[in-house]
Amino acid sequence: MRKPVVAWVVLTVAVIVAAVLLAAFATNLSALPEPGRLETWLAARARAVYLRRAAAHVPPPPAVTPQRIEAGAGAYGMACAFCHGADGRHPTAVGQNMYPRAVSLASPAVQALSDRELFAVIHDGLRLTGMPGFGRIESDDDIWNLVFYIRTLATPPAPAPAH
Ligand code: HEC
Repeated sequence: MRKPVVAWVVLTVAVIVAAVLLAAFATNLSALPEPGRLETWLAARARAVYLRRAAAHVPPPPAVTPQRIEAGAGAYGMACAFCHGADGRHPTAVGQNMYPRAVSLASPAVQALSDRELFAVIHDGLRLTGMPGFGRIESDDDIWNLVFYIRTLATPPAPAPAH
C-alpha cells in the first residue's frame, strides 16, 4: 500500500518541478511586451486590496484651495511628469515602456480611487512597478496638494477648474 503512494508523490513533485522549469525558460525579464490581460487584472485586484488597507493609515486631508491645487501642479511637473506626461493624461515614452505601464492619471481607474488611496499610492509607491514612493521626498502637505491636482484631471482640459 505504501509504495504506490510514494511513487505518486514523487511523480507529482517531478511534474511540478518540470512545469516551473519550463515556465522559467519560456519567459524573460523584458519590459517591452504588453502586459497580459490576466496579469493586469490580477495585479489590479491585489493593488486594490493593499491600497484599501494602506488608506486606513493616511493622515486627514487639509481643505482644498486653489493655491494648493496650483502647488500640486508645480510639484507634479517636477516629480511625476517624467513618467505620467506633462499633462498627466498622456504618459511619456519612458512611462509607456515600463512594466507595468505608467497610467494616465485622468483614467477612470485612477479617478475611482479615494483621496486617501491616492495619497497612499504617492506616499508609499507601488512595489514591483516603476511607481516610486514619495513619502521621504515630499511632505504630507505636498502629497495632499498632488492629490488635489490629480482630481482636477477628472474633468476634460479647461483653463481653470470649475470650482
Ligand atoms: C519613474 C516613473 C514614475 C514616476 C516618476 C511617477 N510614477 Fe506614478 N506610476 C508609475 C507606474 C509605472 C505606475 C503604474 C503602476 C501599476 O500599474 O500598478 C504608476 C501609477 C500611479 C498611480 C495609479 C495607481 C493605481 O492604483 O492605478 C498614481 C495615482 C500615480 N502613479 C501618481 C504619481 C504621482 C502623483 C507622481 C509624482 C509625485 C508619480 N506617480 C510619479 C510610474 C511613475
